[in-house]
Amino acid sequence: MTAPACPPARVLVAERISAGGLDLLRVAGHEVDVRLRMNPAELIEAVAGAQALIVRSATQVTGEVLEAGADLTVVGRAGVGVDNVDLAAAARLGVTVVNAPLSNVLSAAEHTVALLLAQARNIPQAHAALVAGRWERAQWEGVELAGKTLGVVGLGRVGRLVTERLAPFGMAIVAHDPYVSSEQVSGLPIELVSLCELLARSDFVTLHMAKTPETAGLIGAEALAVAKPGVRIVNVARGGLIDEAALAEALRSGKVAGAALDVFDGEPIESSPLFGLSGVVVTPHLGASTVEAQRRAGVDVAEQVNDALAGRPVRFAVTPPAAAG
Ligand code: MLT
Repeated sequence: MTAPACPPARVLVAERISAGGLDLLRVAGHEVDVRLRMNPAELIEAVAGAQALIVRSATQVTGEVLEAGADLTVVGRAGVGVDNVDLAAAARLGVTVVNAPLSNVLSAAEHTVALLLAQARNIPQAHAALVAGRWERAQWEGVELAGKTLGVVGLGRVGRLVTERLAPFGMAIVAHDPYVSSEQVSGLPIELVSLCELLARSDFVTLHMAKTPETAGLIGAEALAVAKPGVRIVNVARGGLIDEAALAEALRSGKVAGAALDVFDGEPIESSPLFGLSGVVVTPHLGASTVEAQRRAGVDVAEQVNDALAGRPVRFAVTPPAAAG
């Protein structure tokens, strides 16, 4: 048997990742300690003595967790968003944070299209009615996408994949992204506009940005007030980008015709003022939940955890790599 290339480390895996990812960690000779559904106190206890911690989006990697993990070299985020990791504390403590930014963008884009269509055609509501014995054809009349304007807020990887998939439906596309120039979209069927103009013109608005102090609550009462009457809003990006109480109010008043939401403020949630509203379609943060995306996320994060533990450069460092010790 070949000896492992790097000294064994304890890798604490706090959320489910793919078997392929776990195998890569084991083959590198590490002790893989899978402990799912820990509460914050249990996580703080378990992280002591671990050299690596792997999470998805449900685990809050706070400054307290990072302090308790005095031996941590690396935190691996098996997915894109790192808003559940205290990056400032990680940088201060010299812990490298890595993510898997390419792993699930396709799945997130496909889920966006699925939710948008499901909302436009009332598919979950009609399904629920029919399986409950009600043949409700008149109640669930939908709208077509052709000839409508799609507003894409955030033109990163997922936003672009969504435009590529929805433009062939005959939608006109306007987009807002302060980090994208008109040269970068030249030749594409995308018109860059201000957020205000996007809201005023769009029949469907879809959000594709990280949650940061600048973007939290971006779609609140003020934004909804300038939105086109009858707009439909889709969020497969992050909870907290939308003020959910303001959205519920706009749905009740009829200003917003519908919403399709995969993400919520303070997940997991069991109830919301949005749940009882008939134009609302929801899923429990399933954007990245496909076999393919989870396989990629597990492998991408495990490879980088192995690299970080071996003192090699990592592919996707979110915080500066920790000095090899
Ligand atoms: C992500 O940020 O990668 C997605 O929200 C999926 C996830 O966290 O599992």
